[in-house]
Amino acid sequence: MTGHMQGQTVMVTGATDGIGLVTARELAALGARVLLVGRNEQKGQRALADIWQAVKGANLAFHRADLSLMSEVRRLAHTIAETEAQLDVLVNNAGGLFQHRQETAEGFERTFALNHLNYFLLTNLLLTKLREAQAGRIVNVASRAHEGGRLDFDDLQSARNYKGWPAYRASKLVNILFTRALAKRLQGTSVTANALHPGFVRTAFGGGNPLVFRLAVRAAMMVLAISVEEGAKTSIYLASSPDVAGESGGYYAKSRLTEPSAAARDDAAAERLWQVSEAMVAGLAG
Ligand SMILES: NC(=O)c1ccc[n+]([C@@H]2O[C@H](COP(=O)([O-])OP(=O)(O)OC[C@H]3O[C@@H](n4cnc5c(N)ncnc54)[C@H](OP(=O)(O)O)[C@@H]3O)[C@@H](O)[C@H]2O)c1
Repeated sequence: MTGHMQGQTVMVTGATDGIGLVTARELAALGARVLLVGRNEQKGQRALADIWQAVKGANLAFHRADLSLMSEVRRLAHTIAETEAQLDVLVNNAGGLFQHRQETAEGFERTFALNHLNYFLLTNLLLTKLREAQAGRIVNVASRAHEGGRLDFDDLQSARNYKGWPAYRASKLVNILFTRALAKRLQGTSVTANALHPGFVRTAFGGGNPLVFRLAVRAAMMVLAISVEEGAKTSIYLASSPDVAGESGGYYAKSRLTEPSAAARDDAAAERLWQVSEAMVAGLAG
């Protein structure tokens, strides 16, 4: 490995498929040690084998964790803190859209738990490690779907009225608000935090939902979506490019700084979200 990421350790969540898998592979090709995180051991081992085949001598490890459970997020963060000498980049990528409302064993609505609380808690638990890095980077995979997303602070768990697409849009709006509040807290440190839209990407996204829903997503992807290689580019750019060294608090699409929606620039909402999220995860044992 001779790339410019040599000597750096990167963690990519949701790295067993889609955008995360390609992000992990390309960062490994740039020489980074890559920690892949996914919930499925078999898919994890397959992802390692695929990357080793594509990138000879890649420095990789797989960690199994169901990131919709905060107990698993804590276990993962603890393991990394104990076993890894350093962590330079965290790519929060694992996410999903769920057509029907489900609650995790910890009582959180699944979209909110996986797409937001996971990003929030994992990042905060790994911050000490990222601060120790020379120039730590946090990359949060959001989506253009945040446009039109609405955040109801009185019903963040969508207990009253759940619909898959609005819950997903709200969670992606939350990714950007979280990034802004985080970047503000990181000012004056060596760690940066940015969010991104990967594009509409041909992946396994939406899997696990009813057949009609999956077929509709697949059909749209066949016609409109870009390749996974293309879709991973902005994540790779934010995780590795010298162009964005020191840049923080931004939202990127096609590897360019882009203005997100007005709701995603609401710093009062970002601050409120931080407080609420902190209280939610603090209430859990572990
Ligand atoms: N595809 C798009 O057009 C698009 C557009 C905008 C934004 N995004 C965002 O891009 C990110 C990646 O999406 P993708 O399209 O690459 O989706 P994907 O192909 O479904 O991949 C998602 C990855 O996350 C993992 N994952 C799902 N639930 C998990 C859990 N509970 N714990 C741990 N890992 C879990 C999946 O593991 P399994 O393989 O075990 O399911 C898989 O590795 C998401 O944040 C999504 O919101 C995607």
